Amino acid sequence: MSNRVHIFDHPLIHHKLSILRDKKTGTREFRDLVSEIAALMCYDATRDMPTRDVDVETPIGIAHCKTLAGKKVAIVPILRAGLGMVDGMLSMLPSAKVGHIGLYRDPETLDPVEYYCKLPTDISEREVIVVDPMLATGGSASAAVQFMKGYGCRNIKMMNILAAPEGIERMQHDHPDVDIYVAAVDEKLNDHGYIVPGLGDAGDRIFGTK
Ligand code: PRP
Ligand code: URA
Repeated sequence: MSNRVHIFDHPLIHHKLSILRDKKTGTREFRDLVSEIAALMCYDATRDMPTRDVDVETPIGIAHCKTLAGKKVAIVPILRAGLGMVDGMLSMLPSAKVGHIGLYRDPETLDPVEYYCKLPTDISEREVIVVDPMLATGGSASAAVQFMKGYGCRNIKMMNILAAPEGIERMQHDHPDVDIYVAAVDEKLNDHGYIVPGLGDAGDRIFGTK
């Protein structure tokens, strides 16, 4: 099995991404843009969700409608930066539950270090969308997905705003069953594991640290 990589080509997403990348964009605008891009990506990444037919009585007559069917959704941000995508996702999926996984990248080894985990009790029965703005080496995403699988999750999507080719390859190798949704794939990683040209440190730009 090989996972599919969905790269978005929507003009609104790319317009917002161009502002997001700009080093002159301040914390408040950056935060708003991450949330807006997440909402737009969520809209498109959920187009394969199953629906069922329902009849709804309007004030005038009966309308034949479609309503969401199938598994309920859990959004799982990778802390910290993934938190920036949660509100945007919830604006599209207001009934979703939210789990949290805390991982940070060791600056020397670039390996993910886990420091927090709190998930909905029925997580294994839900469709899981793991969110993090950056897929760099892929270490954090791969560890987070492995974690979710350890909790019995089988229906997992990964959503990132920016990816490096190295991160996509890592996910394809480690988790060929997980589809990846990204707004753009950049050139490469630099020696410190940052995406080039990227947007810098997503967590610091969202939360105004550093
Ligand atoms: C960033 C980013 C990802 C990770 C990506 O988080 O939000 O989680 O790096 O890098 P990788 O693909 O090489 O693992 P970071 O570790 O800087 O933590 P933060 O969100 O707390 O800033
Ligand atoms: N994490 C970030 O926040 N930015 C990168 O470019 C890579 C990892």
